[in-house]
Amino acid sequence: MATQIAEMVEASRIPGDSIDRLITAYGGRAPRYTSYPTAIQFTPDVAARQYGAWLRGLKRESGSISAYLHVPFCDRMCWYCGCNTAVVNRRGPIEDYVARLLGEIDLVAATLGERLEIGNIHFGGGTPNMLAPDEIGAILARLAQRFDIAPGAEIAAEIDPCTLTEDWVRAAAAGGMNRASLGVQDFDPAVQQAINRIQPYEMTARAVGLLRSAGAGSINMDLIYGLPRQTLEGLEKNIDMALALEPDRLSLFGYAHVPWMKAHQKLIREDELPDARLRYQMQRRAADLLEERGWRRLGLDHFARPDDGLAAAAAEGRMRRNFQGYTTDAAPVLIGFGASSIGRMPQGYVQNASAVPQWREKLDRGELPVARGVEMTAADRFRAEIIERLMCDFAVDLAEVCANHDRPLSELDDSVARLAPMQEDGIAEVEGTRVAATRLGRDFIRSICAAFDAHLEHGAVRHSASI
Ligand SMILES: C[S@@+](CC[C@H](N)C(=O)[O-])C[C@H]1O[C@@H](n2cnc3c(N)ncnc32)[C@H](O)[C@@H]1O
Ligand code: SF4
Repeated sequence: MATQIAEMVEASRIPGDSIDRLITAYGGRAPRYTSYPTAIQFTPDVAARQYGAWLRGLKRESGSISAYLHVPFCDRMCWYCGCNTAVVNRRGPIEDYVARLLGEIDLVAATLGERLEIGNIHFGGGTPNMLAPDEIGAILARLAQRFDIAPGAEIAAEIDPCTLTEDWVRAAAAGGMNRASLGVQDFDPAVQQAINRIQPYEMTARAVGLLRSAGAGSINMDLIYGLPRQTLEGLEKNIDMALALEPDRLSLFGYAHVPWMKAHQKLIREDELPDARLRYQMQRRAADLLEERGWRRLGLDHFARPDDGLAAAAAEGRMRRNFQGYTTDAAPVLIGFGASSIGRMPQGYVQNASAVPQWREKLDRGELPVARGVEMTAADRFRAEIIERLMCDFAVDLAEVCANHDRPLSELDDSVARLAPMQEDGIAEVEGTRVAATRLGRDFIRSICAAFDAHLEHGAVRHSASI
């Protein structure tokens, strides 16, 4: 029966009743596994003192580190937005934030036992191009003052094309920015109206032009499926319009509708949202279309040209997953700066205070602005590797991971048992010690990973829809 469903989907590309059943069984709510343990497990027990000790223990000889800087400001509030951000229309709060961010860089650098090298810098948000050109320049300069920036370091920023200026691009490029990720979501004016994000095509094209002429070597565009008023035909059109701008990568996120966490999402008309079946069809069709166009599907929601570095990393089993999504960045340490940023240390995860006032208060007291985190146990590390390989490669050899962590295969008996119904339904395959998602099962990879999640209390926590 499993193969029958798979064949039916491949043949008709239109999911039938069996697919509806799979969506009901596995398309429900599951973590996105940008970390394991997931942010739900973070507690205030991991605080500044512990983080300080972890920072002091970092060694330059262990390799270069990565840095994430969060900019929680936007020019507009898109109704679908799930990010930690706020609309500001005055310079004051941004100037104040930048001054504290520079202070946070100084504080972290002073806490470290050794001067470290950074190989990867990512500005996320919110909208990093809300910063003034001299502010982005000053932040990059401060990082270069307190750390060594590795030759050829990747420096990336998430960008709202509508507010991008030539001066900003020039300042960021002068500071070393060589990659950019543009928010697009959907090119259809009717959808844009329903999500309060008006962004004419020419605006996106102009931003791409500015970045290319400043030498940005890699450009990603974010698209979303599952937004109100979207149709299958519209999604196909979006993909072709995006490809016409010649990006190097595309992200196609499933709209995470979490109005109980993000009140402004209540402005989205739920009767205009695609249902689970249409959401499924959309991401299936998008993946097929991009593959027809010669693109590679990477993990859950990323796509790249075959000659792109991420595609090469995926082909060689080197792709990694972190809070920014899929990456080639293999650094074991990520230091987060700014409100709500999450860092990864060899011992576990730390998250800064989410609200700007709390983050600022801690810094003003001379404290590392950490609010919560989680210390990883050996069992967490073991399961984290299994989940990361599944999220990145859609397959994992359990025996190999057991050997890496010196743990018995029998520890995974419960998890493997949870895969039995998924095998019957044709979404997972278990051959010896190798677990893999079938082609059909790739769309349900979050549920396959959940089988290995020892912290998940099924049904107890609300995440966004997994399809
Ligand atoms: C920080 S924004 C990108 C930069 C800039 N702020 C912009 O929107 O153009 C990061 C991306 O997250 C995605 N995103 C935001 N809210 C989302 C949600 N609720 N569900 C799925 N994706 C979402 C969007 O694709 C967005 O481009
Ligand atoms: S999607 Fe981007 S621009 Fe829109 S509110 Fe969210 S962070 Fe701001």
